[in-house]
Amino acid sequence: MLSNLPQQPADALLALIKLHNQDPRGDKIDLGVGVYRTGQGDTPVFGAIKAAEKRLVATQDSKAYLGPEGDMGFVTALMPYVFGAANPDLNGRIEGMQTPGGTGSLRLALAMVKRAQVAQVWMGTPSWPNHAQICADLGLPMKSFSHATADGAANMDALRAAIAEAGEGDCFLLHGCCHNPTGIDYANADWDEIAGLIAGKKLLPLLDLAYQGLGAGMEEDAYGVRRVLAAVPEAIVAYSCDKNFGLYRDRTGALYVMMAEAAQLPAVMSNGHALARANWSQPPDHGAAAARIVMEDEALTREWLDELDTMRERMRQVRERLAAAGKVGGVDLTPIGKQHGLFSIIPFTPEQVQAMRAKHGIYFAGSGRINVAGLTMGNIDQFIAAVADVTG
Ligand code: LMR
Repeated sequence: MLSNLPQQPADALLALIKLHNQDPRGDKIDLGVGVYRTGQGDTPVFGAIKAAEKRLVATQDSKAYLGPEGDMGFVTALMPYVFGAANPDLNGRIEGMQTPGGTGSLRLALAMVKRAQVAQVWMGTPSWPNHAQICADLGLPMKSFSHATADGAANMDALRAAIAEAGEGDCFLLHGCCHNPTGIDYANADWDEIAGLIAGKKLLPLLDLAYQGLGAGMEEDAYGVRRVLAAVPEAIVAYSCDKNFGLYRDRTGALYVMMAEAAQLPAVMSNGHALARANWSQPPDHGAAAARIVMEDEALTREWLDELDTMRERMRQVRERLAAAGKVGGVDLTPIGKQHGLFSIIPFTPEQVQAMRAKHGIYFAGSGRINVAGLTMGNIDQFIAAVADVTG
């Protein structure tokens, strides 16, 4: 029977890791998958996480199962950062559970959306390719609208039109901050409007928050999520700690659900728990336990937030440098200076993407998405020269 299965293409983003590794050139540059890199090009374990891991190894006295919801201490410790320290569970209206990374959270969120018989899921495109992949795998109908205008702004007109066209109860999947792949975020004034439009049309928002702290700051990056949640009766937040705790391969994330009444949460969350059981039974513990130890300790929390500040500042410098290059060959790098997070899109043609790989050993997604953290003061001029060469 298994010979009936047709060959599937490798995931285009994850395939870049291998392509880059196989390139023997010493001056190759990896701007592919979304991992942060230091000015030396490394992706080290956060100092705060290393310290927490030492403590975890020294003190953990059991690895017995925790249940489908995972480490609830971790889930709770994260809530003030996401929903605000003043009222982190909005008077008992929010409950969460731990998931294997942001993908696990999105998988559960969208499976819940499917169980709730939501008619369709709307998303701005381009989006993170796995969003559409998960919807397709679940058999969830999708509708798309354009996320950004040609001149690099958030396309509010397209979003307004999509909301006007949507049916009551449709799900709107929005990136909380650091839009992947464009780096083009909604301004706070946009979020104010979006919150009202979503509430007015009785839509179900699903907010994907995978880069909190990598945009403008931990508080600033939560503006959209908090603004939307304040306006609607029900919402889902899919959270990833992969980037802002550097826990990528430890698969650390959380799913949060907000309901109009606290009394509605047990039924909803029982679906999340049942879906987790059917998918992975229980999430992996290590990353969440380490992140919890960081968030429960004042000194480690300070160290973690300082590390995030350093990352953000480095990415700001890279963006500033690219923007200062202005028009390079046939493309304009100026808008990159105003964008947020790890990613920006440069409008390369598919042939130019291939030429960047083959001729210059510079690897990034076929969409033209670059991971700006892959650029350092040591390789940025080489990158700009290559862009000039292939687009000029
Ligand atoms: C990315 O978009 O590169 C990251 O979110 C990593 C991934 O899983 O795709």
